[in-house]
Amino acid sequence: MSKTTIPTVIGPEAYTSWRRTSLGTITETIEHRLILDMMGDLAGARVLDAGCGDGVLACVAAERGAEVTGVDPDRAMLAAARSRAAKAGVQATFLEGRVERLPFPDSTFDVVVSVTVLCFVADTRRAVREMARVLRPGGRLVLGELGRWSVWAMLRRVRGWLGAATWKKARFRTAGELRGLAEQAGLSVTAVRSAVYYPPVSLFARALAPFDARFAGLTTFGAAFIALSAVSASERSKT
Ligand SMILES: C[S@@+](CC[C@H](N)C(=O)[O-])C[C@H]1O[C@@H](n2cnc3c(N)ncnc32)[C@H](O)[C@@H]1O
Repeated sequence: MSKTTIPTVIGPEAYTSWRRTSLGTITETIEHRLILDMMGDLAGARVLDAGCGDGVLACVAAERGAEVTGVDPDRAMLAAARSRAAKAGVQATFLEGRVERLPFPDSTFDVVVSVTVLCFVADTRRAVREMARVLRPGGRLVLGELGRWSVWAMLRRVRGWLGAATWKKARFRTAGELRGLAEQAGLSVTAVRSAVYYPPVSLFARALAPFDARFAGLTTFGAAFIALSAVSASERSKT
């Protein structure tokens, strides 16, 4: 049984089922494309995936030549991540841990990525400070979160109000709030981008996904996925 404090309603099985749906496949493809683009060239980079879940993004980063470490408090997720890496034939290390207290010395990583994790973390300021601490000078943080003003977030909030334990305490953020967290951690925000403007219905996803980038050019409002990249202050002072 997992010891995570998050109810494991979102366990590895839920993720596997989600990816079997066309809504899941389309949405994850769009989100990962954006996140990987913001992570930049990964060849030889030391990458931390904080809250790695079942390791999909970590394995893609490893396939692109990164030296990847994934951290997650949920042992079932970690087991799924290790099995995924073994099946894919990639090297990646998966460790039990929490983003609020990362088990690494300062300046260990070139890139830290964290996707849909902060919404479950109570002390997000501390979590982002920790991510900034383990970044090397000039390293890059990439965050992806469910956008607060989206139908996706609204439906999860309703499920929380109706008693769904996973969503009861989840907190969704705006682009401005994510920016604030990064800046409070001493990072310099280099980009805020958004994606997934369709509601969580397969039919809409299939019809509207080809136009997603056009909406993204207009506003972050309504986007289900907000992504931010930021660099450490030391790189900023060099440029
Ligand atoms: C919605 S899943 C996202 C997983 C993965 N990042 C992805 O995008 O597929 C949220 C993950 O955050 C992890 N998590 C929750 N609280 C955490 C914490 N305090 N520190 C690190 N990971 C955490 C959960 O165990 C879960 O694997």
